[in-house]
Amino acid sequence: MRSILLRIDTIAASDSSVLLIGETGVGKELIAEYIHRTSPRSARPLVKVGLASLPPELLESELFGHERGAYTSASSDKKGLFELAEGGTIFLDDIDDFPLALQSKLLRVLESREVMRVGGTTPIAIDVRLITATKVDLKELASRNHFRPDLYYRINVVPLVIPPLRDRRDDIPPIITHFLNRYANNPNIKVADDAMHALTNYSWPGNIRELRNIVQQMALFANGEICMKDLPNEIREDSPLEVIVKACNRCFTEENMSFDQVVACLEVNLLRQALRQATGNRTQAAKTLGMSLSTLRDKLKKYNIE
Ligand SMILES: Nc1ncnc2c1ncn2[C@@H]1O[C@H](COP(=O)(O)OP(=O)(O)OP(=O)(O)O)[C@@H](O)[C@H]1O
Ligand SMILES: [Mg+2]
Repeated sequence: MRSILLRIDTIAASDSSVLLIGETGVGKELIAEYIHRTSPRSARPLVKVGLASLPPELLESELFGHERGAYTSASSDKKGLFELAEGGTIFLDDIDDFPLALQSKLLRVLESREVMRVGGTTPIAIDVRLITATKVDLKELASRNHFRPDLYYRINVVPLVIPPLRDRRDDIPPIITHFLNRYANNPNIKVADDAMHALTNYSWPGNIRELRNIVQQMALFANGEICMKDLPNEIREDSPLEVIVKACNRCFTEENMSFDQVVACLEVNLLRQALRQATGNRTQAAKTLGMSLSTLRDKLKKYNIE
């Protein structure tokens, strides 16, 4: 995230096409808005197009417009979204859903900086910056002939990979504070340590959108302090201990490890986790595990844990 934030102002100031790559809810649209808002085009429109929600048969005339009479229903000329974005930015979200049949037309528009309305005969010059977003690997789609490689290279001038929340867990507490400030009625609301720990360790498949929704719910119901009992089940159950136990259970049932091996694996994982939480402080780790310092030392030695 830091490397993205370091580069983003330079990227915004340039006119390059940007491809945002990331799982659902990581903030692709937010970043697209930021790029537009801080770019020299900010006074002109940002036109967002959700390609996953547009029926393919409407897409061509939506994007490129049509002339009167192009279809039986086309009773007047209509500007396309590219024309409406004139001077500004067009954000094509879920570009991986762009129909193959129309990809060559899109490429032509991007290369020539001109659109031809459906049923039209004269090209119209356009000055539009392109930002696209995808949840899937376009290169892989291209290798399976589901995406045109030449279009892929055209839109992938500046790729920005936005990491999932579980790969940047340090961001979780400040983002929670941010959403609490926004949604909680009580400005002094706090999150208890164990609840914050569970929230930080959860896998967040829906990323920041999921985090926002959950904080919003909790802010509504909690008074004073958000505790473990205020967390949704999936987060409480996804606690580090549960994760470890589930993994050990898999070793036992699927990997055919012996009872002794599974128990040893469980011990090693618990010891490592306690040390990590205690940032290496053995006295603290022994206390969390409810064992004496000498027992902890013996076990670390036995398993050769630094
Ligand atoms: N770093 C952040 N700080 C605060 N809020 C954020 C951050 N990143 C994303 N959000 C918020 O999380 C929500 C989801 O973000 P956004 O819609 O940009 O995700 P997306 O990557 O476009 O998701 P999808 O692929 O599902 O469309 C939005 O409400 C957005 O404002
Ligand atoms: Mg989005």
